[in-house]
Amino acid sequence: RKFPDDFLFGTATASYQIEGAWNEDGKGENIWDYMTHNNPTVIKDVSNGDIAADSYHNYKRDVEIMRELSLDAYRFSLSWSRILPTGMANEVNPAGIEFYNNYINEMLKYNITPMITLYHWDLPQKLQELGGFANPYISDWYADYARVVFENFGDRVKHFITFNEPREICFQGYGSTTKAPILNSTAVGTYLCAKHLVIAHAKAYYVYDNEFRPTQGGQCGITISVNWFAPYTDSDEDHFATEIKRQSEWGLYAHPIFSSEGGFPKEFSQRIAEKSAQQGYAKSRLPEFTAEEKALVQGSSDFFGVNHYTGYLISATQNKVENPVPSMPDDVDAGTIVPEEWPKSASTWLTLAPNSILNALTDLKERYNNPIFYITENGWSTPPETGLDDDMRGTYYRTALESVLDTLDAGVNLKGYMAWSLIDNFEWMQGYAERFGLYSVDFEDPARTRTPRKSAFIYKHIVSNRFIDHTY
Ligand code: BGC
Repeated sequence: RKFPDDFLFGTATASYQIEGAWNEDGKGENIWDYMTHNNPTVIKDVSNGDIAADSYHNYKRDVEIMRELSLDAYRFSLSWSRILPTGMANEVNPAGIEFYNNYINEMLKYNITPMITLYHWDLPQKLQELGGFANPYISDWYADYARVVFENFGDRVKHFITFNEPREICFQGYGSTTKAPILNSTAVGTYLCAKHLVIAHAKAYYVYDNEFRPTQGGQCGITISVNWFAPYTDSDEDHFATEIKRQSEWGLYAHPIFSSEGGFPKEFSQRIAEKSAQQGYAKSRLPEFTAEEKALVQGSSDFFGVNHYTGYLISATQNKVENPVPSMPDDVDAGTIVPEEWPKSASTWLTLAPNSILNALTDLKERYNNPIFYITENGWSTPPETGLDDDMRGTYYRTALESVLDTLDAGVNLKGYMAWSLIDNFEWMQGYAERFGLYSVDFEDPARTRTPRKSAFIYKHIVSNRFIDHTY
């Protein structure tokens, strides 16, 4: 079995995780700068992304690594506050534009297709002070930022992704304390963010569609994290709990954009409304869309970007949240089970779940009318001690890519696959304690030297031969 010739193989990264240069050349402060500087102990190893892999100064070496890996494409994100230091479009930072121009041009020189994510979690701090994604005006500020991006880079970049992972932005950042801005607004934060974020996505999509697509001719989509959830037993209760879990994790963001019904997913919306009433709220904690907003959002994506890592079994009765407060986990009201025999990574949430790519993508294909898909992230973590001998990462990629071939065989319209990640980087709350790179980065070395791991050779072999040789 072979991958099609036009299948895009790449890797992915994100600005805050690799760039460093946090206050150089006019860049403004973002919410990760602010949180790691003012609240350093929230990061496991009390580190930050001030320097990270220093890709701001090493971008040519990064492009050289892309060539070493024989990549077709590279997905990276733009730092909003490097381009617009205050977040607002009245003040554009020329050095920020120049940096990304150099980066893009370097890729194009070697025929590597750049894929831009406009937002991978690093909101300008000034916009957070105005409420960030809890403020409905975020959609206008975001659309203004998107216009600056399309205007400056759209002549050469043909793949734009508005947001990376709404669930992680909204649930982790607003509804809990596991990502900046650690708001912990459990009852309403996640849901306010969800509504404003999908509207922001749609406004940016129409900026592209109306003002730029006619001359630039590219595509604009969104990336949602879709892990696979399967019922723990065959009982009706476990099946229903699993459906609610899927709706809460990715349906909340995918349904308004990709379904033929539009709006938030029905069963989960009902559940939140019921719980809100029991809890004494005057209205559901999940805001509604107006008819106009619903229509704006529906169909506003040229492709569905999927970040996929793992799978879980869902039970209506076991492992449920203890002492629930009004929150998304309480609204879901189900437990998660991970079988002992699934191989474990360095990250608590990440195991190798069998056939999870095939299962997730065939479900999405059915639910959302067969859209075009890209897998925009997929990868495995090792502890720093593992060094270069990352056999399990190699096994993970081979297994995942077999599932990708099964997915193509099943008739899913999947156009590309981006491994997470090109190089080791700042792994958010875990700092540098968990590594995802095909290349290791020496964070003790001021030069941030990059060295290929075993898995880099395996991935390169697959990418350049278009098939998976299990003996290699
Ligand atoms: C994120 C990446 C992150 C990776 C591993 C994804 O959810 O988009 O930024 O590093 O998972 O945790």
